[in-house]
Amino acid sequence: MTKALLISSSALGDASVSNRITAELVAELRRLEPGLQLTARDVGAQPLPQLAPERMGAFAGHAETPPAAETASLSEAVIAEVKDADLLIIGSPMYNFGITSTLKTWFDHLLRAGLTFRYTADGSEGLVTGKRAIVVEARGGHYTDGPAAASDHQEPHLKTLLAFIGITDVTFVRAEKLAISPEEKAASIEAALHEARDVAARFVKVAG
Ligand SMILES: Cc1cc2nc3c(=O)[nH]c(=O)nc-3n(C[C@H](O)[C@H](O)[C@H](O)COP(=O)(O)O)c2cc1C
Repeated sequence: MTKALLISSSALGDASVSNRITAELVAELRRLEPGLQLTARDVGAQPLPQLAPERMGAFAGHAETPPAAETASLSEAVIAEVKDADLLIIGSPMYNFGITSTLKTWFDHLLRAGLTFRYTADGSEGLVTGKRAIVVEARGGHYTDGPAAASDHQEPHLKTLLAFIGITDVTFVRAEKLAISPEEKAASIEAALHEARDVAARFVKVAG
């Protein structure tokens, strides 16, 4: 039985394209594997507090103040949720060529030396192994190829962050050209929904 963790990071709630596509992905996974266990955290709707001076004791072993204690407990919860999952599903809108600040803050709580990665004499080593990830990206423009490809700081960043903690089996589903025209948007969403269902089927086949 697959344990999936869904991380959503759109500020648009029900109007979000990435939320719509991750919902379809989860629905298809559930259809194919009714026993699927899902944990969901929506950092777009309920952002984690950004790291700030009064919170940093959480990462240095002295979380005496309420803000530091809160960050320590949120970080522990974020890490436990990821470690407990077999499959990580991330909904990632592109904001200003990268991931949203809310998703970045979630990673700030997740990437912790000694817990999710460690430094060795040969460099860093991810400690969150044996997991797969599916990332749904939503973008107004077109970055898969062409002149804007070099401005895609979303997908390479996500690959690096996930690989750093040991998650290298990552599938990306892209909904692009969402801001070009209503027709392009509708076609792109349809194609991404289709792809999400295919990705779900491939995941269940490999997992089974
Ligand atoms: C604050 C903000 C910044 C954005 N920056 C970009 C951008 O740099 N490039 C782009 O292609 N689209 C950009 N967009 C468009 C979003 O990527 C697009 O609306 C997408 O659908 C957002 O995902 P969501 O619908 O899941 O929230 C931006 C949207 C917002 C609200």
